[in-house]
Amino acid sequence: AHSLKRTIDEKRKESIQGGGKTKRDAQHNKGKLTARERLDLLLDKGTFREYDAFVEHQCTDFGLDAKKIAGDGVVTGHGTIHGRRVFVYSQDFTVFGGSLSRTNSLKILKVMDQAVVVGAPIIGLQDSGGARIQEGVDSLAGYSDIFQKNVLASGVVPQLSLVMGPCAGGAVYSPALTDFIFMVRDTSHMFVTGPDVVKTVTNEKVDQEVLGGAITHTRKSGVAHNAYANDIEALQRMRDFFDYLPLSNRDQVPVRVCEDPLDREDAALDTIVPTHSNVAYDMQEVISRILDKHSFFELAPEYAGNIIVGLGRLGGKTVGVVANQPLVSSGALDIDASVKAARFIRFCDAFNVPLVTLVDVPGFMPGTAQEHGGIIRHGAKLLYAYCEATVPKLTVITRKAYGGAYIVMSSKHLRGDYNVAWPSAEIAVMGASGAVEVIFRNHHDKPKMEAEYQEKFATPLSAARRGYLDDIIQPRTTRARLIEQLDLLKTKSIQNPWKKHGTIPL
Ligand code: COA
Repeated sequence: AHSLKRTIDEKRKESIQGGGKTKRDAQHNKGKLTARERLDLLLDKGTFREYDAFVEHQCTDFGLDAKKIAGDGVVTGHGTIHGRRVFVYSQDFTVFGGSLSRTNSLKILKVMDQAVVVGAPIIGLQDSGGARIQEGVDSLAGYSDIFQKNVLASGVVPQLSLVMGPCAGGAVYSPALTDFIFMVRDTSHMFVTGPDVVKTVTNEKVDQEVLGGAITHTRKSGVAHNAYANDIEALQRMRDFFDYLPLSNRDQVPVRVCEDPLDREDAALDTIVPTHSNVAYDMQEVISRILDKHSFFELAPEYAGNIIVGLGRLGGKTVGVVANQPLVSSGALDIDASVKAARFIRFCDAFNVPLVTLVDVPGFMPGTAQEHGGIIRHGAKLLYAYCEATVPKLTVITRKAYGGAYIVMSSKHLRGDYNVAWPSAEIAVMGASGAVEVIFRNHHDKPKMEAEYQEKFATPLSAARRGYLDDIIQPRTTRARLIEQLDLLKTKSIQNPWKKHGTIPL
């Protein structure tokens, strides 16, 4: 019995040591933390409970039978973040390069299963050389099972990925199936095929960073949402973000103590929209003045800047914010913005997060690049997402709401619960000069007709008269009004017709 205890202790120590000191030093020298150090920073102190520390791979090929390390390259278990439970796995690059073996995949699948059973989010810290090459198809089977589980868990519990090292080949598709991806600058990379294969197949010379670094994925491809300077910052921001999330689709949004008065008025909002309707202003400022102080966690801030999405709080409760940004392309909707917002809206709807939409949109972006790129199909995603959503939908039109974009941006017509405008709102089929070009093409006094059109439609009144707006509110009262309505809508309950699933135009 004594020797058994010694073996158990030794094995546990071996698991904690991972690939050993040299490998850990190498990890540190790359500016990366180890798998366990990362979990220490991600989880509340002392809350991590590990599973499967004794698991070893079963592979006997290529001399692997002589090379077994307890834990087998991934640390799994559960803990809490700000007191709320979460399941985690953290790939250990010091053990076989964090590569995915069959047993290693079974460890990951176990915590994913438990996350769904219990109703708690799952966070994966990715740092891996990919499929364990020596295991061949067994390792591919491991990935497959993880993908399948990712899909089944989608919309049931939030799934979050933090890419903190290599993530290449098939390995990219597990994070890709999760709800949000954060990356670490310089040390993390995601690509389906690496630079060498790219060179061989396409003769294109490209390095890892340009091909799939954090900047590439948060600015160009939109694959990842947010990027951070190092492991520590990324883990801390993941903790912050976690705080906004419901634990599952059966849970309500978390409630935090709100020190910001619920009825706080903000006089600056009354004058924030410039009198000249072509002058831009910063929608970020509108958002931060309405939400609880310092409570906005923006997602994908560097991608499709013409639309802003993120989780924030109103009266201590999480809301999903979607807002046009007049500072970028006048806030026009294009392909990237539509897809970015559509996906976010569907996340919010899946997890009972009410939607607050701030509208200042001149329309969809014109041009062959957009049309040939399929703006019709991609814009339809945004429309679909808003139509489908059954969570409370609150909309404030601050200025322009033109044409199809007026409809799409959470209008009353799409089962909006509370649709209001500021007095500066302009709601019409299109802007005045464009409209006059079409309907008064040959008129001798176009400026006069433009002024007439402007007077008729550059106001929220015609929409309000028809009940397409519930009210025209003083901008300074926006926060109080939204909080009031959110409280009212707590008991909102509507259901879409039964279906296996819709056919969103992907
Ligand atoms: N399977 C098995 N072992 C792997 C592995 C994999 N997929 N990826 C890395 N390793 C091992 C390495 O053999 C090395 O082991 P050693 O220290 O015993 O020699 C250890 O992990 C560290 O890898 P190394 O290549 O030294 O680290 P690096 O930081 O220089 O490079 C990668 C990291 C990911 C770029 C590189 O390891 C790589 O290209 N791996 C293969 C990626 C791939 O094609 N995977 C399969 C496709 S899914």
